[in-house]
Amino acid sequence: MRVFLAGATGAVGKQLAPLLVASGHEVHGMTRHESKRAMLEEMGAVPVVADALDPDQVARAVGLAKPDLIVHQLTALSGWGMRALKRGAALTNRLRTEGTDHLVLAGRAVGVHRFVAQSNYALYERSGGPVKTEEDPLDPAPPGKLRDGLAAMRHLEKAVLGSGRTEGVVLRYGGFYGPGTNMAPGGELFEMIRKRRFPLIGDGAGIWSFIHIRDAATATLAAIEHGNGGVYNIVDDDPAPVAEWLPYLTHLLSGKKPRRMPRFVVRLVAGEGGVVMMTDARGASNAKAKRELGWRPAYPSWRQGFSAVQEESTHQMTGPR
Ligand SMILES: NC(=O)c1ccc[n+]([C@@H]2O[C@H](COP(=O)([O-])OP(=O)(O)OC[C@H]3O[C@@H](n4cnc5c(N)ncnc54)[C@H](OP(=O)(O)O)[C@@H]3O)[C@@H](O)[C@H]2O)c1
Repeated sequence: MRVFLAGATGAVGKQLAPLLVASGHEVHGMTRHESKRAMLEEMGAVPVVADALDPDQVARAVGLAKPDLIVHQLTALSGWGMRALKRGAALTNRLRTEGTDHLVLAGRAVGVHRFVAQSNYALYERSGGPVKTEEDPLDPAPPGKLRDGLAAMRHLEKAVLGSGRTEGVVLRYGGFYGPGTNMAPGGELFEMIRKRRFPLIGDGAGIWSFIHIRDAATATLAAIEHGNGGVYNIVDDDPAPVAEWLPYLTHLLSGKKPRRMPRFVVRLVAGEGGVVMMTDARGASNAKAKRELGWRPAYPSWRQGFSAVQEESTHQMTGPR
């Protein structure tokens, strides 16, 4: 198949492009930067330079590539620090709304038969059972700073799933960790956790689902090749409360326990949106992805996954013995 991969140079894209090429697909990988052409060529992809927020550039790029299928992995989340995070969140919202619309329209114009896009399990309602399936309701009223981000994701899902004759596939990924993500040795989140700057808030009862970035890529390949239209949770087998995974990871990285902070203090500083992911979030089930995609994560639990990522980097630093 000829695949148009928007976000080919990002965390998922870098893992996915070589997998697609190895499986015999022709990949047209999009970036904004002329300087990343060589990187895309090295991955075996045809470089396409275009800005996802410019409808004419997107229409031209997709029109030239004439893909069978479009994969949307666009975000703008690589900055760190308060200002960069705010700017990145706003840009990501635009990529999930305007960017999605431009890609869907451009795809429709060339008759792509399938459109696969990145979403997130954080969309689920924060009440009822601890682990959500694709059938469960979404959060009807996300608090504070979560509101705009989740609204943008809902826009993306609606546009992709309702894109006429194009079959829409939405992948609600768990939290990424592993090479190229901020949850890897040297990555911003791992560093915060290592320095004990990522506290355990309240009872830490919020449940998180994770996925190793290479498992995210293998699931995406399976969805591209034989997924049905609709939504899939792409997460590992082990949804776990923050009170379980954070002490495990803090200990793995620094040998210490995470600091604790009362809920009301964090609410004052970061607002309710900053608190609920730590105290009220729900995890997600991967049963449908396993059943329909025939996919299995190589790291069924973040326990093995975090340790493997840590070991991989130690091995790279010290070299083979
Ligand atoms: N589920 C999750 O946990 C989740 C989801 C998403 C991201 N993240 C985290 O966020 C961090 C950053 O993610 P990332 O490494 O994927 O990088 P990123 O900076 O979010 O960029 C992702 C992709 O989007 C492309 N892009 C952004 N704006 C574009 C535009 N206007 N036009 C065309 N392409 C555009 C980038 O291409 P160019 O820059 O080459 O133009 C890149 O290929 C990582 O730590 C990742 O783990 C986590």
